[in-house]
Amino acid sequence: MALSASSTVGEWIDHPVGGRIFGAVLEQAGASAEALAPARNLPLGQLVTLSNGQFPAEMVDGLVAAYRAEAPEDAEDDAPAAAPGTGPWVEQIIPGRFTGQTVIVTGAASGIGRAVASRVAREGGRVVAVDLAKEKLDELVEALSGAEVVAVAGDITSSESVEEILRAAGDRVDALANVAGIMDDMGAVHELTDATWERVMRVNVDGTMRLMRAVVPGMLAARSGRIVNVASEAGLRGSAAGAAYTASKHAVVGLTKSSAVMYAGTGIQVNAVAPGGVATGIRVPAQAEFGGARLGKFMGNIPGVATAEHLAASITFLLSRDAVNLNGAIVASDGGWSAV
Ligand SMILES: NC(=O)c1ccc[n+]([C@@H]2O[C@H](COP(=O)([O-])OP(=O)(O)OC[C@H]3O[C@@H](n4cnc5c(N)ncnc54)[C@H](O)[C@@H]3O)[C@@H](O)[C@H]2O)c1
Repeated sequence: MALSASSTVGEWIDHPVGGRIFGAVLEQAGASAEALAPARNLPLGQLVTLSNGQFPAEMVDGLVAAYRAEAPEDAEDDAPAAAPGTGPWVEQIIPGRFTGQTVIVTGAASGIGRAVASRVAREGGRVVAVDLAKEKLDELVEALSGAEVVAVAGDITSSESVEEILRAAGDRVDALANVAGIMDDMGAVHELTDATWERVMRVNVDGTMRLMRAVVPGMLAARSGRIVNVASEAGLRGSAAGAAYTASKHAVVGLTKSSAVMYAGTGIQVNAVAPGGVATGIRVPAQAEFGGARLGKFMGNIPGVATAEHLAASITFLLSRDAVNLNGAIVASDGGWSAV
């Protein structure tokens, strides 16, 4: 089988020629194939995002070029295209799924939020894309030219920004995806600074609640609306992140379940997605010593790392009208991690 940047890390590692070339590059970088085990099912090109610059795009290009030079006959052996619905998963747009709907997506400049905003827009929705990062939002709007995307550069924890988001949305908000969030440093309670606690709770909990609070009156009046909050594996268990992030994501689960009960029967549905490991640019601060070491041994249970598009598939399903019978569900989109 011919290897390319879209072949998975596992296919590269297992290939007689590709595996040797890849192994040499990893060795040079002081890494090993074992360390990449959770990323085996990801396309090689995703390592650029996953590694936060340690595995740059030039390295991927270099690997593919070295492979083609060493196995030219292999590279030319174009395998027949897989039949539709078989082979590795590829994002499949459902045309018109969000036509006529306005969807607010927070954290839309990067990672999971960007993938959600992009998919909703390409499926016909009008997207209000919210993020702190103005330049990256502008890039998103440019990348989706032809689709209806309104960028709001703002902070979900500020009341002014929330008002601006509502103004940008206009008369009707059909769905809200609360995706923006930040990580902690894996610290245990005795390592927590007030600054880390306050920042993580402010963005992950206050920001999520404020957007929910802002859109609910309009949804109640319309007797229709879907809210999807992004929790985390850390909203389901105590071994996936530090105390602050874990507490914040348990609070997101609580907000989701409480609101599902409160608004049941009003036409509003509130659900959450709990992602496992996802290859995004999320900033992970330097690890706290005690908590980081303590959590390290649980990370072996992670079945694999997903892409932002994988998460967008789960989140857009819950944002869509096909979520008709779901309310208060915390959908683990984690490759089975939560079942371990
Ligand atoms: N990446 C993972 O492995 C993972 C796992 C579980 C849960 N999650 C959750 O998924 C969500 C998205 O994470 P991601 O990995 O895509 O991260 P990311 O860093 O790639 O994207 C998050 C975006 O949110 C924005 N943001 C942060 N604070 C904001 C604020 N106050 N106002 C407006 N925008 C703000 C950031 O600018 C960034 O663009 C987060 O809630 C995160 O906790 C991620």
